Amino acid sequence: MRIRIITLFPEMFDGPFRASIVSRATRDGLVDITIHQLREYATDRHHTVDDDPYGGGAGMVMMAAPLADAVEDLKKSARDANEPDPTVVLLSPQGRRLDQRVAADLLAHDSLILVCGHYEGVDERFIESMVDEEISIGDYVLTGGEPAAIVLVDALTRLIPGVLGSEDSAPSDSFGSALGGRLQGPVYTRPREWRGREVPEILLSGDHARVERWRDEQAEIRTRDRRPDLSGSPDLGNR
Ligand code: ADE
Repeated sequence: MRIRIITLFPEMFDGPFRASIVSRATRDGLVDITIHQLREYATDRHHTVDDDPYGGGAGMVMMAAPLADAVEDLKKSARDANEPDPTVVLLSPQGRRLDQRVAADLLAHDSLILVCGHYEGVDERFIESMVDEEISIGDYVLTGGEPAAIVLVDALTRLIPGVLGSEDSAPSDSFGSALGGRLQGPVYTRPREWRGREVPEILLSGDHARVERWRDEQAEIRTRDRRPDLSGSPDLGNR
């Protein structure tokens, strides 16, 4: 998968993409992520990328032209590299809310351009003419699209075949298909007793079928208790 990210704050991606599974996936060539500074597409000598909102009001609005130039330039580099036409995603609180199904849908697009919004928003004409999809990571407002892009890249990367060490670890996570779109139940590791708390006996039984049944029940109970909105929901598309 190829991901290009347009941002005013490239340094925000240094830590998250240099650690753990995303960095390993990058090293192994399973995902290729590049970060592009929006200011390089500004046309004046002050590198202006935002301006006052028409109609007045607080805050600044990101201008259409630098964003469009950046997207067009990155689409051209995709074409030059014989890659599929990238899908343009704007991270914004007005977008479709990210969940496991949306992540799986986006994974089907081999090439993405993620645009990180800032300030009071992005000129609507850029969105109308160039953005294929707006994605929100939840009903709260962040300082910008960057943390949302990091979350989205993480959720996508772990779904790429070969990224997770154990072949079956993605489907058994919360929301995975093995759990039918439910939460994962409790898990335990050594020692068998810790501060007076015992590991449930059944997990020590060696009876694989009973263990599986128990895990299934626990997932059901936890989902009903904590996320009744998910109970009875169909598989959310993890693989
Ligand atoms: N930018 C600001 N808030 C956001 C959110 N909740 N999701 C995606 N992008 C954002």
